[in-house]
Amino acid sequence: MERYQGRVAVVTGVSSGIGEGLVRALVAAGIRVAGCARNADKLQTLKESLGSNSEHFLPVTCDLTEEQQVRNFFERVLAEWGAVDILINNAGLAFNSSLLDGTVEEWRTMLDTNIVALCLCTQLTVESMKESNISDGYIIHINSESGHMHPVPSKFHFYSATKHAVRALTETMRLELAKTLPGCRISSVSPGLVETQFLAKMAGRPAEQLKVFSRMKALEVEDVVQTVLHLLRTPAHVQVHDVLMRPAGQTS
Ligand SMILES: NC(=O)c1ccc[n+]([C@@H]2O[C@H](COP(=O)([O-])OP(=O)(O)OC[C@H]3O[C@@H](n4cnc5c(N)ncnc54)[C@H](OP(=O)(O)O)[C@@H]3O)[C@@H](O)[C@H]2O)c1
Repeated sequence: MERYQGRVAVVTGVSSGIGEGLVRALVAAGIRVAGCARNADKLQTLKESLGSNSEHFLPVTCDLTEEQQVRNFFERVLAEWGAVDILINNAGLAFNSSLLDGTVEEWRTMLDTNIVALCLCTQLTVESMKESNISDGYIIHINSESGHMHPVPSKFHFYSATKHAVRALTETMRLELAKTLPGCRISSVSPGLVETQFLAKMAGRPAEQLKVFSRMKALEVEDVVQTVLHLLRTPAHVQVHDVLMRPAGQTS
């Protein structure tokens, strides 16, 4: 991790869950973190909660489905901190609808957030790495186990397709990076159920009412965060492709 001390990470979707946990851990590890989300109040609350480390967190309100807002986010980061050394594409969402009852608007929102924004953030990061001659950059996609299998609950079917795309984009970006920036690495982390507000937002109900969390001990945010930190600590010649992690005892 010493390699990245004092350097700059961009993390998307930091107003809650895994993204918020990543901000706390990376800032504590001495990394400057620029994070975005739509909820400006939550970003401000997160900044204030970092206390004396708060100057190492740059919160930027940004709707990742809006191309210009993503470009403005990166311009702000580069204006403030000069370059991007690490990108963690974390923001993602699902809607509570199957392929047969979902709407085009829901599908477009998932495509724009889970895939298009991930690609645009990656492209802007690689441009910054090239301009600043960064030879050891790191890009991490927060994927999902849904990107490795076909989930039975129909409400995950379109979301699962977006996460399969993330798996393909990890491998194809690895090939592009190997030619253009050979020292820069890309990995994905693919968790199963994690205890965040993700499912509650999807279901439109408080997490406490969701039976799934009482049936099985889910992964905690910290489990995913520690996996990301492990990736960042690996030696420069190690290219981990994917970490698929599930709660122990999961039967599906
Ligand atoms: N929780 C799980 O069981 C689980 C399992 C596997 C994979 N994952 C993946 O883990 C990642 C993080 O999810 P989480 O569990 O931490 O859920 P979460 O608590 O709901 O966090 C999602 C984050 O994404 C942000 N976001 C969503 N749409 C956005 C947009 N248009 N523009 C900017 N930010 C946006 C949200 O912020 P705003 O709403 O403030 O914009 C929020 O900060 C996602 O990619 C998800 O697919 C989660």
